[in-house]
Amino acid sequence: MTNNLFWHEGKITAEDREKLLGQKGVVIWLTGLSGSGKSTIARELETVLYRAGKLSYVLDGDNIRMGLNKDLGFSEKDRQENIRRIGEVAKLFVDAGVIVITAFISPFRADRDKVRSLLPEGKFIEVFVDCPLEVCEARDVKGLYKKAREGKIPEFTGITSPYEPPEKPEITVKTSEQSLKECVEIIITYLRKNFYF
Ligand code: PPS
Repeated sequence: MTNNLFWHEGKITAEDREKLLGQKGVVIWLTGLSGSGKSTIARELETVLYRAGKLSYVLDGDNIRMGLNKDLGFSEKDRQENIRRIGEVAKLFVDAGVIVITAFISPFRADRDKVRSLLPEGKFIEVFVDCPLEVCEARDVKGLYKKAREGKIPEFTGITSPYEPPEKPEITVKTSEQSLKECVEIIITYLRKNFYF
């Protein structure tokens, strides 16, 4: 499928764009169960970065599935394709110098690892949004767990579809034990310590 295609390189490099923005392009990949707090953390992190004068952009599960990935469902194959496309989009944002914050369940380790391998070293920060299933289910913000238990949603993550937690995430936040502020602070501290801005 990639026959007869030629990559075009511009005169302006990713490093030039990063210099212009005063930051490094990177993907902050939040992964965790539905209701674990991925979107909440993503939005708060975006706000904190904005106030610090840093350009970030959130790619969020529900939003992307209403547009770019509206043709995809929740079978293993569709989730795989979902994450593959997000990975490619995130890669473009990183090349543009943006701090990309992604909030997808991304339940399969192999799919997350594929995204990591798409990006240059140090440009993929995996954040495990760790929250016990019982707590997510008790929160049931969207009422989806109830529906899943009633058998109204097939292949629901944690109930009838697996979630594979990261083995060596760069960061773990525990949303049942730590406050939103603490979780965001942990990520910001990591970014500062590793000179992303
Ligand atoms: S995945 O697994 O990474 O492809 O999923 P993602 O793109 O993040 O989409 C997850 C959101 O879709 C809603 N939803 C479901 N989640 C899990 N399993 C099933 N079967 C399902 N059906 C719909 C749900 O709102 C998820 O959002 P979050 O924010 O995770 O709760």
